[in-house]
Amino acid sequence: MNNSSLPLVLVSHTLPDGWLDNLENHCRMVIGPKDANELSTELENFLPEAEGLFTLLTINVNEALLSKTPKLKVVSNMAVGYDNVDLDACTQRGIPVGNTPGVLTDGTADLTMAIMLAAARRIIEANLDARQGRWKTWSPTGWLGKDLRGATLGIIGMGQIGSAVAERATGFGMKIIFSDPNPDLVKAEGLKAKHVPLETLIKDSDFISLHIPLTPETYHLINEDTLKRIKPTSLLINTSRGPIVDSNALIKALEGGWIAGAALDVTDPEPLPQYHRLFELPNCLIVPHIGSATWNTRRQMAERACENLIAGLKGRQLPYCVNPEVYNS
Ligand code: DGY
Repeated sequence: MNNSSLPLVLVSHTLPDGWLDNLENHCRMVIGPKDANELSTELENFLPEAEGLFTLLTINVNEALLSKTPKLKVVSNMAVGYDNVDLDACTQRGIPVGNTPGVLTDGTADLTMAIMLAAARRIIEANLDARQGRWKTWSPTGWLGKDLRGATLGIIGMGQIGSAVAERATGFGMKIIFSDPNPDLVKAEGLKAKHVPLETLIKDSDFISLHIPLTPETYHLINEDTLKRIKPTSLLINTSRGPIVDSNALIKALEGGWIAGAALDVTDPEPLPQYHRLFELPNCLIVPHIGSATWNTRRQMAERACENLIAGLKGRQLPYCVNPEVYNS
């Protein structure tokens, strides 16, 4: 719609047809390219007029960007994580920030199980060997992996996604222990999961899975020191945010046999450069941040992001707001 009385919204990326239909009667849109790691120059030029920003997690909504947006009323991030947004800077300017919780819980939990199983059972390696002529016979010792049943899964961060992983892993016969920065808020009803100090989780788990947001406190939570305390037979799974794991320390741990392997949906940096050392390590499985990558999930994320955006443009409280204190001032 080209009605110049409507507010201008910058959408950082081109999304599939139909995903932004809900916005059409509420704003004019300038839409960026499909694959972008930063705001395109074209969109940059519109920042002074923008009243709404619809972003993906690759866009840094920082002080430098916000200083060019005097009219901005809302930032709507199409992700549950919002570490790409300088929340304090938005709050200080009175700008509410929206995210998309809930709808990607199952997708991300499924992917966590998928890469946990793939790493445990060496699926990628076995698939390559089968295709490349190394499947000579049924060998009693060929491609041996690890059992899930009876193994201890340590979940760091028992929020919605952590709990959904616990539920699935229980079905596989795993014993669940967890640590959480706010154990009192954890709703683990119906789950047989035991809260333990992080220290205990690190040393007792056979699989460790990360489900915490990236904050200054969680940055490099998994570092050389922690990796040295993990059992050498354990696998580390990360479907949360790359920088929670110190990549250089992880390389040392995988090369040195401090841990048995890693399965990563997220990395630091992201995307991981093509010739990065982690790609060369056979005990490291890497997929390109696809935790929420199902049609249904991504579509619902877009819908939530549209709801937040429309509310913000109209001066209403965002249905999924990560800085609600903005409404107190
Ligand atoms: C999110 O929404 O934060 C996820 O990382 C996207 O898959």
